Amino acid sequence: MDVLRFTTAGSVDDGKSTLIGRLLFDSKSIFEDQYESVKRSSQVRGEEVNLALLTDGLRAEREQGITIDVAYRYFATPKRKFIIADTPGHEQYTRNMVTGASTAELAIILIDARNGVLTQSRRHGFIASLLQIPHVVVAINKMDLVGYDEVVYEAVVDEYRAFAQSLAVDDIVFIPLSALCGDNVVEKSEHMSWYNGPTLLHHLETVKVRADHNVVDFRFPVQHVIRPNQDFRGFAGQISSGLIRPGEAVTVLPSDKKSRIKRIVSFETDLNEAGPGEGVILTLEDEIDISRGDMIVRSQNRPLVGQRLDADICWMSEEPLNIGKSYLIQHTTNLVPAYLSKILYRLDINTLHRVPADQYELNDIGRVEITATQPLCFDPYRLNRHTGGFILIDPDTNNTVAAGMIRGEARPCAAEETLKHRREKSPNVVWEGLNIERVEREARNQHKAVIFWFTGYSGSGKSTIARALEKRLFGEGYQTMLLDGDYVRHGLCQDLGFTPTERKENIRRVGEVARLFFEQGSIVLCTFVSPYQADRDFIRSLVPQERFFEVFIDSDIETCKKRDPKGLYQKALQGQINDFTGISAPYERPLKPDITIPSDTITVAESVETLWRFIAAQEIIKATR
Ligand code: ADX
Repeated sequence: MDVLRFTTAGSVDDGKSTLIGRLLFDSKSIFEDQYESVKRSSQVRGEEVNLALLTDGLRAEREQGITIDVAYRYFATPKRKFIIADTPGHEQYTRNMVTGASTAELAIILIDARNGVLTQSRRHGFIASLLQIPHVVVAINKMDLVGYDEVVYEAVVDEYRAFAQSLAVDDIVFIPLSALCGDNVVEKSEHMSWYNGPTLLHHLETVKVRADHNVVDFRFPVQHVIRPNQDFRGFAGQISSGLIRPGEAVTVLPSDKKSRIKRIVSFETDLNEAGPGEGVILTLEDEIDISRGDMIVRSQNRPLVGQRLDADICWMSEEPLNIGKSYLIQHTTNLVPAYLSKILYRLDINTLHRVPADQYELNDIGRVEITATQPLCFDPYRLNRHTGGFILIDPDTNNTVAAGMIRGEARPCAAEETLKHRREKSPNVVWEGLNIERVEREARNQHKAVIFWFTGYSGSGKSTIARALEKRLFGEGYQTMLLDGDYVRHGLCQDLGFTPTERKENIRRVGEVARLFFEQGSIVLCTFVSPYQADRDFIRSLVPQERFFEVFIDSDIETCKKRDPKGLYQKALQGQINDFTGISAPYERPLKPDITIPSDTITVAESVETLWRFIAAQEIIKATR
């Protein structure tokens, strides 16, 4: 039987729960015992049978503590099966709609006839359009409270229609109803003879939903690697889109390794073909290193692969968006740290104009640039809802803070971006490229150029370890350069203090200098407290992926306080230094350091030895010299 997935959106007291309850009840989709229990609870509260309790009661059963808090409710009539993505919560309506709606084919937007079109109602329409929900029903509810007045209804319809002209929703249907009294929900109302359209249920049963499956672009995000024994190695997951058959040539991303599909296994049997939504295990002809989050695609039809994306997001958290903060991006089967590198604009929901913004508050919608700390394989949401959608999670609270739709790759990259920025201020400066290419310098030096970025508390031992390491490298004939917080702050950055903005600028300048030394072929060691992940990630984005190493000098703050080599902790504790990291300013521990040195438990010599072995393993210094 054919299935319709839909979602509902409304503002406070618009009657969402009552409407769902009414649909379930009048279409006889609830069981008698549930009805009895609702009746009893309602009587206890001295009310008539309260259908909202039905929805809320079911809601209480939902699993707690999951990231996307959506409860799916199922009901069926002889014509169709229905899946309602119901998103609990009473205040965060936008959030509810976004999380529930990503797979919906239809959205019901509830409007209280007495209140007319609110900003919230426009927002819901806009989100439906952003999410590309093809069908929208504007349910003008509580008609009983406006005397079933056609004039009231028409006024709401006119206003909403005018707004909806600028939305990308093809099909909008308006229905006057009363969820409480049952008018036009399942049964045709006797009070609104002026209305000739369908009842809500009739519309839900008959609306033509085209199969929205993308069968062209094969995308298979790997969920698990399955290896029950030596002879079998399979990759389990759900096909996001596209069809696949054994024998087809595939590429694994982001590693770009090629192979062919050997078998498609489902419930222990082999399939000749599999398509969108199917959970399968794929095996390949060749032994390739594949892990969770990788994507298997057809070699001739690839998604985009990159770390920087432009996306439309709906901000769903009470906490405003924080540009410097690290979030987690959940995209297909990947969960990786990411930060919002830029806000391009915010949308004014009432006018749909783009307005400049440096922050988003709860329910704000707009376009941003996101930088993930690892490459993601994605498509624009317009082409693929699965590989183009994502959510952002706050790692401190585990809450979903935003839902997003990828528009495409963000360009240019951070390094080019700073160049461009510079050009805006000095448009007549022409970039001519480097005189001598780094590879030539590296060939002469006989080692690779890299940046080692040491981060950690003041007093953790960053400088001491880096100085000893540099001595050893230099002693063995390597080209090196050490950039240290204390000495750039005596020159290049003498105008900067320790606020987050000043630290960001400090790190940016140092990063640019480090990049110059890098291009000059050096092993660059940088020792900066650099307490913000976003600032460190920015430096990483300046040079090729495999040439930047974040070295976390991990020393317990108490140990640093005890050591206090410059007496700064004591001063900070006495209130003589502002914004002191670890005392009156935060330190964001590296989310994914390339190497961690527990400097409070091992000696300087041991730390240097560990780093030396790490450097050797990275093949930065080749045995060839
Ligand atoms: S960063 O945060 O911008 O990376 P940086 O590494 O350049 O800081 O400078 C840190 C050094 O400045 C510390 O080692 C310490 O000696 C000194 N310092 C002075 N004031 C502060 C402060 N408020 N917070 C941290 N370090 C400070």
